[in-house]
Amino acid sequence: MTKGKEPIIRNFHLVCIVNLVVGIIIQFSDESEFSVDMSKIELTHIPRDLSPKTKVLDMSQNYISEIHLSDISFLIELKVLRLSHNRIQCLDFSVFKFNQDLEYLDLSYNQLQKISCHPVMSLKHLDLSFNDFDVLPICKEFGKLTQLNFLGLSATKLKQLDILPIAHLKLGYILLDLEGYYVKENEVESLQIPSTKILHLVFPPNSLFSLQVNISVNIIECLQLTNVKLNEDNCKVLIKFLSDIIRGPNLLNFTLSHMATTWKCFIRVLEFFWPRPVEYLNIYNLTIVGSINKEDFTYSKTTLKALKIEHITHTVFIFSKTALYRAFSEMNIMMLTLSDTTFIHMLCPHTLSTFKFLNFTNNVFTDSIFQECSTLVKLETLILQKNDLENLFKIGLMTKQMPSLKILDVSWNSLQYNTQDGLCTWVGSIVVLNMSSNMLTDSVFRCLPPRVNVLDLHSNRIRSIPEDVNHLEALRELNVAFNSLTKLPGCGAMSSLSVLIIEYNSISNPPGDFFQNCQKMRSIRAGNNPFQCTCELRDFIQSVGQAPSEVVEGWPDSYVCDYPESSKGTPLKDFHVSPLSCNTALLIVTIVVTVLVLAITVTTLCVYFDVPWYLRMVCQWTQTRRRARNIPLEELQRTVQFHAFISYSDHDSAWVKNELLPNLEKEDIRVCLHERNFIPGKSIVENIINCIEKSYKSIFVLSPNFVQSEWCHYELYFAHHNLFHEGSNNLILILLEPIPQDNIPSKYHKLKALMTQRTYLEWPKEKSKHGLFWANIIAAFNAKLTLVTENSDEKDPT
Ligand SMILES: *[C@@H]1O[C@H](CO)[C@@H](O)[C@H](O)[C@H]1NC(C)=O
Repeated sequence: MTKGKEPIIRNFHLVCIVNLVVGIIIQFSDESEFSVDMSKIELTHIPRDLSPKTKVLDMSQNYISEIHLSDISFLIELKVLRLSHNRIQCLDFSVFKFNQDLEYLDLSYNQLQKISCHPVMSLKHLDLSFNDFDVLPICKEFGKLTQLNFLGLSATKLKQLDILPIAHLKLGYILLDLEGYYVKENEVESLQIPSTKILHLVFPPNSLFSLQVNISVNIIECLQLTNVKLNEDNCKVLIKFLSDIIRGPNLLNFTLSHMATTWKCFIRVLEFFWPRPVEYLNIYNLTIVGSINKEDFTYSKTTLKALKIEHITHTVFIFSKTALYRAFSEMNIMMLTLSDTTFIHMLCPHTLSTFKFLNFTNNVFTDSIFQECSTLVKLETLILQKNDLENLFKIGLMTKQMPSLKILDVSWNSLQYNTQDGLCTWVGSIVVLNMSSNMLTDSVFRCLPPRVNVLDLHSNRIRSIPEDVNHLEALRELNVAFNSLTKLPGCGAMSSLSVLIIEYNSISNPPGDFFQNCQKMRSIRAGNNPFQCTCELRDFIQSVGQAPSEVVEGWPDSYVCDYPESSKGTPLKDFHVSPLSCNTALLIVTIVVTVLVLAITVTTLCVYFDVPWYLRMVCQWTQTRRRARNIPLEELQRTVQFHAFISYSDHDSAWVKNELLPNLEKEDIRVCLHERNFIPGKSIVENIINCIEKSYKSIFVLSPNFVQSEWCHYELYFAHHNLFHEGSNNLILILLEPIPQDNIPSKYHKLKALMTQRTYLEWPKEKSKHGLFWANIIAAFNAKLTLVTENSDEKDPT
């Protein structure tokens, strides 16, 4: 609720005091860093180790009995010194001569009997009240304290002479403690108090009010009397005292605190005040002793605007409630406050009432209050905070007869709305409704005044705000803090909502489009909710970032992640998730694209660099190396004459002669060629078999030409069935040119099988690959193989 909406008059009676105190407090509040609190720590001296920068020093409620110059002179920046409730008996003001900035000095509640004077020119607040002074402790030098605003004094004797030095000062507040004031029989003094805004007189707490001194004041706005104990007899003493002091038209504000009186005398006092120019009458701590009976009293015309009574006790329990309540209900004033009482009821005024403002905070009123009461026609503000109200329906009904009611405060009760009671009826004029700290649930939204502007529902039991609530078009401010809401409300039904307080609920995922839906939102306070920091929250965080900073109150400090565990405690402002991990479609697309790109790259690389060819070659090379190693050497050496027999088609002979042979022979590989090594006289077949059998390996140069050659097939057939080295281990197939599968005649199933097994080495076209190709061929031969010479063979008598 904005401050401006509170009725100014409501606080008026405080104005006198607040003006003065606030001035001093505000002035020092920014110096808190140099403020030292040493109260209540059983000090007997002012400690020496204080910082010379100390500006505010509180040493109240200790056992200090003396102050010396050296205790305090180094605190040259000291502005405020609180020494109340100590044991100082004697004070020389010259101890403060180096504290040139000292403005506030509180020496109340000590045992001071004597002071010696030395002006501290900077003093604005000097409190010497509640000490053991005999005469008023006013030095001649005090007359020079032109800055002085507050002066607290105490004395057991009052003499006009004593007050003369300050008679010309214009003070804000004089506190005169007369607790020890001692009255000599039949001696009546008179005392002229200097000009002051506020005069506060404190009388002895335990004796009946009596006063043997004529106190008069020049100009005074507020008068406060503390400890006023009255009975039937001395009631007139007070009345006499009051009529003396309230002469001029200036006294507007009158306060009585700690007043004990009979009901009869209380009524007399009210009767006294009614026709006076006093506008605000406050009574704090009123005790009514004795019986309460009907007193005849009619309220005359009055300038009194407000009566405020806080904390009433009465000592008798059986009394006329009507007499008590009637005395208040019939008052012809605008504002009445009766708070902190044991009153259970208030009567409906008999005639049309003047009340505009009624404050019944902290009583024991029930739902029966003002039911069917049609005389409160001017009532604008009704405060029923902290009572025993239970039924919201009845509260609505009560207001029905208050056509001017604008502000209703029923906070801190036990209110519930039971839908069985039927539709609520409210007076249409209510604009501010405070129902905080009750037991209301979601149903309360079906029982609201039609034109409510400001609605306070904090600290109730609301779980959700229904979407379809009627009559909330006028709602501008809604406070639903400290409930159990799990969602932010939509602004659909609350089209004027501009202030929303929804902190301390159970909202985990506020929607990202909240600000779009609530265009009029000026201020939202949604901190201290258990935010779930997951993808869904991103939009909200983003939208907060875009909103003007003053709109989201408490940001960023009270907006903190609660879940998941890993983010607990992280401010929402620092919570980031990548857009990728929050968007499944995007994630899938990214993965697919990545895989595709990778596949294409690999394929391209393979095709471009012929990687599979290299892999195959390396693989075969290692296999051959291994196999070659496994064959027992001796056995081989006994039988073979050549390393290799080469079978090829005549059409390929150029390649064999120019490429194959030179490369093999370079590595000392002996080759059996049919043209070169054929033994004349033997048949071709015999020669082939002979050549194959004498060779460790057989190399076949495959090409379409090879396939066409009948002889080559024979050679292949024989080589494959070599008796000595069974299996295809002894075959090396070189594919010189690709052979289309269909070109191989079907009868050559052996060749077909070999081709499909792809155990051949392809002759690469690219020169760069030739090295690896040859390495692979050569690896198939065991280098250590020492062969039987051809000569010995020739000598052989075959
Ligand atoms: C409602 O009353 C509570 C105390 O009972 C107070 O704190 C709060 O500020 C009031 N709300 C409004 C909108 O005045």
